[in-house]
Amino acid sequence: MAKKIRASAPAKVILFGEHFVVYGKRALAAAINRRLTVEVSSREKEGYHVKIENIPTFGMAMDLEDKKAYPYKDYGGAAKAIAYVRESIGLLEERYGIGKEGVEIEIKSEIPLSAGLGSSAATCVATIAALKAFFGVRSDLDGIRADAHRVELAVQGAASPVDTAISTYGGYVLVEEGNVRRLHLAELTLIVGCVGCIPLSMDTKKASEIGLKTKKIVEEVRRRKDTFPDVYNHIFDAADEITGQAIEAIEHCELAKLGALIRINQGLLDAIGVVPGRLSELVKTSQEVGALGAKVTGAGGLDDMGSIGSVLVLPGKSEAKIKVALELAGALVMDVKTGGAGLKIEADHR
Ligand code: PMV
Repeated sequence: MAKKIRASAPAKVILFGEHFVVYGKRALAAAINRRLTVEVSSREKEGYHVKIENIPTFGMAMDLEDKKAYPYKDYGGAAKAIAYVRESIGLLEERYGIGKEGVEIEIKSEIPLSAGLGSSAATCVATIAALKAFFGVRSDLDGIRADAHRVELAVQGAASPVDTAISTYGGYVLVEEGNVRRLHLAELTLIVGCVGCIPLSMDTKKASEIGLKTKKIVEEVRRRKDTFPDVYNHIFDAADEITGQAIEAIEHCELAKLGALIRINQGLLDAIGVVPGRLSELVKTSQEVGALGAKVTGAGGLDDMGSIGSVLVLPGKSEAKIKVALELAGALVMDVKTGGAGLKIEADHR
C-alpha cells in the first residue's frame, strides 16, 4: 500500500446548453484551470480524519467517528463538502470493502462553492480516485467517474453527468441525450465572475440548502415548461442549434461568432427565467465595456432565491476593463483557461 496518494480534479464551466441538456439537448462543458486536491495517507488512530480547506473561503478539520468539528478558518460551507467525502467513503466500503484502518484525508480546493463551477464533482472524483489508489482498488477513469456520479446522486438526489465527466476527463465534453462524448477543441481565454459564494458565517443548514439550489431551479423550469410547452420547445431547439454552431465556431477560431452565440444563449436562459438580477447585471456590465459575449454558467438562479452563481465572459480585447468592472460590481473574478487536464493521481511510496 502506498504511504500517500494525491489526486486532483478540475472545476468546470458549462459553455452552452445548461438547463436545455436536462431535456436531451446538446450541452458543451470544459475543464478550467482551478483544481481541488485530495491527499490520503495513513494515521495511527482507526477511522477517518478529514481536513478541508477552500481557498480562500473556509477550512475545517473533523474526526468522522466522534463527529466533532474543529474549524480553523471558517465554517458552514465545509459541511457540504464533508457530505460528499462521507458518501464517497460509504460507497467504497460497500462496493469494494475498503478497510477501516486509520486514514487521513486532506482536501485543498481553489473552486468557489455553489457557484456552478463543479466543486462537488471535483470533490467526489478526487476523493474516490485517491481512496481507490490508497486501498489498491483497481479502477479506470470510467469506473472513477461512474462512482463519483453515484455519490453526487446520493447526496443531491439529482445530478447531470456533465460535472463528473469533466472533472474526470478534463478537456471538453459534449452531452447529448444524456450521453457524454469527449471533444478536442482549442483553449479559450475567459473571465468568470461569481457572486454570493457561500459566505463565511453561514450555518451548515443554510449552506446545504444553497447546495441543493440546482434541484429547485431545474424543478421550476420544468413547471414553467409544462405551462407553455409549445413556446419552451422552440426555445430548447434553438439552444440545441446554438451548441452545435458554437462547436464549429471554436473549431474555426471564430471568436466574434462565438461571442454572438454566447449572447443568444444568455437571452434564452433569461427567457426560461434562470437569470436573477445580480447575474444579469454582471452580464450587462461586461458587455457594456466591450465583452464579445457573456452569459450565466451553471444553474443560474431564481429571482426569489437571491443571487448566487457565476457568469462567464468571452473578453475579446477588453479583458482588463471587464475585470475591473466585474470587481466593482462585487464579483469574485477569475482568469480562466478552458480545456485543461482532468484527474491526476500521484503516489508517494516513501
Ligand atoms: O450549477 P450546476 O453546475 O449544478 O449546473 C447545473 C446544470 C443544469 O443543466 C442546470 C442541471 C443539470 O443537471 O444538467
